Amino acid sequence: MTKVAVIVGSLRRESINRTLAEALSAIAGPRLDLELVEVGDLPLYNEDLWADPPAAVLDFKEALSRANAVLFVTPEYNRYFTPAIKNAVDWGTRPRGQNAWLGKPAAICGASPGPIGTAAAQASLRGLLVTCGMVVMGIPELMLTFDASAFADGAHREGPLRERLDAWIGSFADWIELTRTKPQID
Ligand code: FNR
Repeated sequence: MTKVAVIVGSLRRESINRTLAEALSAIAGPRLDLELVEVGDLPLYNEDLWADPPAAVLDFKEALSRANAVLFVTPEYNRYFTPAIKNAVDWGTRPRGQNAWLGKPAAICGASPGPIGTAAAQASLRGLLVTCGMVVMGIPELMLTFDASAFADGAHREGPLRERLDAWIGSFADWIELTRTKPQID
C-alpha cells in the first residue's frame, strides 16, 4: 500500500486540523496508508544541530524516507501556513544533498472556522512545496470551513462530508498514481 506521511501544522491538543487529518486517515484505505508524523518536537531549525542531530530530527527524516507521498494539513495563521510546517519542511531539506522531499507527490488541505477554510494558507504553502521539489496536486482543493457538529459523535463518517473527504483522498491516490507514470526527478 502507498505510504503517506501526514504533517499537521498545528501543535495544539484540540486542533481542528488534527481532527481533519484523523478523519482522512480513517477513510484512506485500502489505497493509501496515512501515518501522522509529529513535528512538535522538532527544534527550531539551526544548522549547528547537525553536528549532533536531536533524535526528533533523525526520527522525522526516517519517517519521511519511508513515505511514498506527503499530505500537509495546515491551519491558517494570518493568511499564511504555520511556523510548525515551515520548520518541518526546512529540516526535511537538509543536510544539503539529502532533501527528503525531492520528487515526492504531495497534497495540501486544511480547516479553519472562517469562510475561506485556509485558502490563503494553502496558496502560500504550495509555492514552498514546489520550491522543495515536491510534485504538488493542484486540484481538487479541500478547504474546510470547520463545523464541530459535523465531526461530533462520528457524524463525518457518513453523509455529504464523508463523500467530500472520500472524493478528495481518492483524487490524491489518483495523483500519486499519475506521478508514477512520469519520469522521476533526479
Ligand atoms: C488564526 N486563525 C485564522 N483563521 C483564518 O481563517 N485565517 C487567518 O488568517 C487566521 N489567522 C490566525 C492567526 C493566529 C496566530 C491564530 C492562532 C489563529 C484562526 C484559526 O483558523 C483557528 O485558530 C484554527 O482553529 C487553528 O487551527 P487548529 O490549531 O485548530 O488546527
